Amino acid sequence: MRTDADHGPGRGRTWPVKAAQLRLWSGLILFAFATTHFINHAMGLISVDVMQAGQDVRTAVTRSLPGTVILIAAAVTHFVLGIARFLKARTWRLGWRSGVQLAFGLLIPIFLVRHVLGTRGVHEMFGVDDDYDYALWAMWPNEAVGQAILMVLVWVHGCIGLHHWLSAKPWYRRGLWFWYGLAVLIPTMAYMGFVDAGRANAQQVQYDSPLTADQYAVIQNAFATSAMTYYGILIAAVGVWCALLIQMRFSPKIVVSYAGGPTIAALRGQSVLEISRANRVPHASVCGGRARCSTCRVRVLQGLEQLPAASEAEAQVLGRVGSPANVRLACQLRPVADLTVSTLLPANLDGRQSARIDKYLWGVEQEVTILFCDLRGFTKMSEGRLSFDVVFILNQFLGRMAEAIEDTGGFVDKFMGDGIMAIFGMDVPTAVGAQRAIAAARAMGGVLDGLNQSLREELPGPLQMGIGVHTGAVILGRIGAVQRAEAAAPLTALGETVNVASRLESKTKELGVQVAVSAVTMAAAGLEPGDRVARQAVEIRGLSVPMDVYVSGRATDLPGN
Ligand code: FES
Repeated sequence: MRTDADHGPGRGRTWPVKAAQLRLWSGLILFAFATTHFINHAMGLISVDVMQAGQDVRTAVTRSLPGTVILIAAAVTHFVLGIARFLKARTWRLGWRSGVQLAFGLLIPIFLVRHVLGTRGVHEMFGVDDDYDYALWAMWPNEAVGQAILMVLVWVHGCIGLHHWLSAKPWYRRGLWFWYGLAVLIPTMAYMGFVDAGRANAQQVQYDSPLTADQYAVIQNAFATSAMTYYGILIAAVGVWCALLIQMRFSPKIVVSYAGGPTIAALRGQSVLEISRANRVPHASVCGGRARCSTCRVRVLQGLEQLPAASEAEAQVLGRVGSPANVRLACQLRPVADLTVSTLLPANLDGRQSARIDKYLWGVEQEVTILFCDLRGFTKMSEGRLSFDVVFILNQFLGRMAEAIEDTGGFVDKFMGDGIMAIFGMDVPTAVGAQRAIAAARAMGGVLDGLNQSLREELPGPLQMGIGVHTGAVILGRIGAVQRAEAAAPLTALGETVNVASRLESKTKELGVQVAVSAVTMAAAGLEPGDRVARQAVEIRGLSVPMDVYVSGRATDLPGN
């Protein structure tokens, strides 16, 4: 079975992981600051006094020494790492969300520096009490449009980042409309609070400028200098990015072939996802290329040997979804030689669908216990009965048996006519899976007794069943329409163990018993079989030697913990 180690964690570069984590955490700190700031604005819908009370609480944290240090460190870190990420991109086709996030992120400082200098800046430089009376006087109505733009830039940039981070998490997907609602409600209320308080303040408060003419000139100068400095940084970053792109265009190309798709002469240094985007090859990327969602993964069909080792971030994600050695994350893989890949997930996949696609997509070899159960003689029993009765009885039987399986920790793999196949031990050690399968068989025996009691008026004779149980290695995989975005393919088990369990169930009829549990399963479960089950060697089709099996006329006689 595949593990993280197959993708070489530790052998790849670790700093990008730390950088991605730092960018995420610094972003979260800034987003938390922005959210509380917005909520504080929204309090203006009640009154300026309430707004100010909220501000006092908030600034007690954000203007304390630790709060200040954390905020400045988060802002600098996020900005520097954002620019670094921009420089790493080797295509301007980023996907609309990432494109908007980047553009808004680059615009934020233009408006933010003015806002910060006009509030905390004047407080620190000239001792101005920048409470809400002052802030509203300074910003309403002349700065109202600028503030609205700043709020939209900050909020959209942060929300896209959060969405990329959380999009594959089931709890987030489940509450998506709630989160969308919050994402609209918070800035709307904030701006309404700002406008309401601004109007009220303009009517009620006679405010004289706390700045002298010289101080005003200093602050205007600071506005201009900081804006020019930032434009300089921006132009330099774009210049470096263009230079890197030009240098890449003149360096030797590699050939990337997509199975069933185009063959592309690609730039060395681009990630496979960037190559797809730059050449309009449809490619899923729910997290926007941040090594979080795993939806961009590709199977490498040729050129695996020349690929750089997976970074720690990539190895972690691939390990989490149990992907094999020839599967890589397209957003992290920067090939240096020709390669052939096939994309694995539908290009229009969204986070909700990606959350349902798991390691079983690849096929995982695992030791589990398989249980087969079949209703005996049902075809004969259903002769001459109304179809309604037949379906009712069958549903009673299958439904109650499925409950017994699930109650004991099994997974109902499929219903096959009047039979059931179940898997035990997918998420627990083999021993526990084997114990649960035996417990399920025992419970199913009891369920059948109860069912026969309740249906005795309806039936010519009691229902009978056979159960076969065996433990061993199987391939667990999603078999079916895995490329269809609308549904995850059903999970099933394949292999010799499944065949043996099925044949054991068939043998119960021949042996005249209700249950046959292989000695392998009994040993794996660590259970003493007891006196009420018999051990015997049974010929199983496909096996060269007889198999040791424990059989009993009543599944309720099986041992338990
Ligand atoms: S796009 Fe999400 S991991 Fe590559």
